[in-house]
Amino acid sequence: MPSIWDTVQPLLVVPNWPLVAFTLFIGFPLFAIVLNVARQLFLRNPNEPPVVFHLVPFIGSAVAYGMDPYKFFFAMRDKYGDVFTFILLGRRMTVALGPKGNNLILGGKLSQVNAEEAYTHLTTPVFGEGVVYDVPNHVLMEQKRFVKFGLNTENFRAYVGMIEDEWDHFIATEPGFAPYRAGGKDDWGHFDAFEHMSELTILTASRTLQGSEVRAQMDKSFAHLYMDLDGGFTPINFMFPNLPLPSYRRRDKAQKAMSDFYLSILQKRREKASAEVEYDMLAALMNQSYKDGRPLGDREIAHIMIALLMAGQHTSSATISWCLLHIAHRQDVQDALYKEQVERFSTPDGSLRSPTYEELKDLPVLDSIIRETLRIHPPLHSLMRKVIADIPVPPSLGNASEDKSLIIPKGNFVLAAPCITQVDPGIWKNAFEWEPSRWTDPNSEAAAMYKEYTETGEKVDYGFGMISKGTESPYQPFGSGRHRCIGEQFAYVQLGTILSLMVRTLELKIDKVPPHNYTTMITTPQKPREISFRKRQL
Ligand code: HEM
Ligand SMILES: *[C@@H]1O[C@H](CO)[C@@H](O)[C@H](O)[C@H]1NC(C)=O
Ligand SMILES: *[C@@H]1O[C@H](CO)[C@@H](O)[C@H](O)[C@H]1NC(C)=O
Repeated sequence: MPSIWDTVQPLLVVPNWPLVAFTLFIGFPLFAIVLNVARQLFLRNPNEPPVVFHLVPFIGSAVAYGMDPYKFFFAMRDKYGDVFTFILLGRRMTVALGPKGNNLILGGKLSQVNAEEAYTHLTTPVFGEGVVYDVPNHVLMEQKRFVKFGLNTENFRAYVGMIEDEWDHFIATEPGFAPYRAGGKDDWGHFDAFEHMSELTILTASRTLQGSEVRAQMDKSFAHLYMDLDGGFTPINFMFPNLPLPSYRRRDKAQKAMSDFYLSILQKRREKASAEVEYDMLAALMNQSYKDGRPLGDREIAHIMIALLMAGQHTSSATISWCLLHIAHRQDVQDALYKEQVERFSTPDGSLRSPTYEELKDLPVLDSIIRETLRIHPPLHSLMRKVIADIPVPPSLGNASEDKSLIIPKGNFVLAAPCITQVDPGIWKNAFEWEPSRWTDPNSEAAAMYKEYTETGEKVDYGFGMISKGTESPYQPFGSGRHRCIGEQFAYVQLGTILSLMVRTLELKIDKVPPHNYTTMITTPQKPREISFRKRQL
């Protein structure tokens, strides 16, 4: 009878490689999976939201969530109710769905939920230090107040003409639009909806918000810096803020170069102190001071400008792409949009004159197209916060089949998904259909919801001016509460101007609207997404 020692000793001297390999690659993982499953089955904490069943620890539900968050959220809601926790690469993410769920998270107390800890790893290397999620919340609230100075009516009025200039230049020079310039009835061309609109919006955003110096460099060095910085603003950067990879090095180099570029602009402007009025964000930020009297520093201004560039670019370019894809698909809506332009802007000689900011705000068809597109394709599907003190879940929100109150424990993350309430069949008629007319009927639920989100709802001032709180609205593409978007009006000016001008110039056609691609930072259209166009035949 061999002793145990007899069996073990040879292993210690000469490793049994097959056994070692088996243990490492199959035994341990299998053991971890069994342990993980057993823990879920037998050790469920009855005081916390149910945990989405998963086999592999750490990875958890990352694949299902990452591939299609809508499908994942709807399926888990059926299984677990409105509040549940899933594992995302080692993080415990507690989702709270529905209007009450949105309110729990986006209306959460500062002592309980924290955005900085959820986002800073992604944003600080890209924006730079001292701004947004690299500072305590009260500082962010003041920085949002500063930015709002630059987003005023007077500036918006000037922006409409600048955007028109950029569009005219784009359609006259962009190689993809050569068939337009040929101009015949049979000269159909096509363009990639997202790529071309990204190009256009970076030009319009830099011409308007960013200022003439940035716009002048946009055809040159700044464009490369932007590309490198953008390459470091992806979901991978969320999970791994710093890796020894070329893309990370390029990100860091671009951040520094861009920051220095803004600094030099600021310096030149201060030296010049010209009488010439600049209607841009830099001009507005140059004069701001915090409540304690400290002036906003030039480095902070530079980093705020980068933050605005990143916050506005993909959100706007994706939204305009989706708008175009839908009107290319729905000829009746495209016709209505064109008709609205003709009715409002025709001149005696038959041409259409430039719109003004005020006129753009009063075009119901245009407005309904943007609103409906943001309902079905909100660029951001998940809004996250870190839980810094236990959050009690109101009984009305917990899993309906269990009537005890639950706690979301400190250390978890919470995730709000207003994208789900925006297409919830329990709330909307034909919830998944893109149907702008739902917004133009003044008696519809949709119209009332929008009014509540923007005008009539509870008003609060978090430090950046009075806003509609909106945390319980089923429709909130721009978020709600203290982190609510401040770029909403600017986005409408930019989208509205571009859409108006495009529908005047081009007829658009596509067979089918592509599905969502969720592997990008924001929800983009999957390829192929080529829109056919020709010069509009009058
Ligand atoms: C269609 C366009 C846009 C959409 C759909 C959009 C959406 C959003 C959403 C959902 C949030 C809330 C994020 C959260 O709660 O975690 C947000 C915040 C914000 N957005 Fe936008 N945005 C758009 C355009 C812009 C533009 C053009 C700018 C800049 C000019 C901008 C600047 C900001 C800023 C500064 C915040 C505040 C972040 C915070 O307080 O934590 N956005 N946006
Ligand atoms: C900035 O301050 C200067 C002097 O205090 C003033 O003349 C100028 O109008 C201000 N600019 C803005 C954009 O507020
Ligand atoms: C989705 O986006 C990723 C990242 O940009 C891209 O690599 C991939 O090709 C896209 N998928 C489709 C089907 O368009």
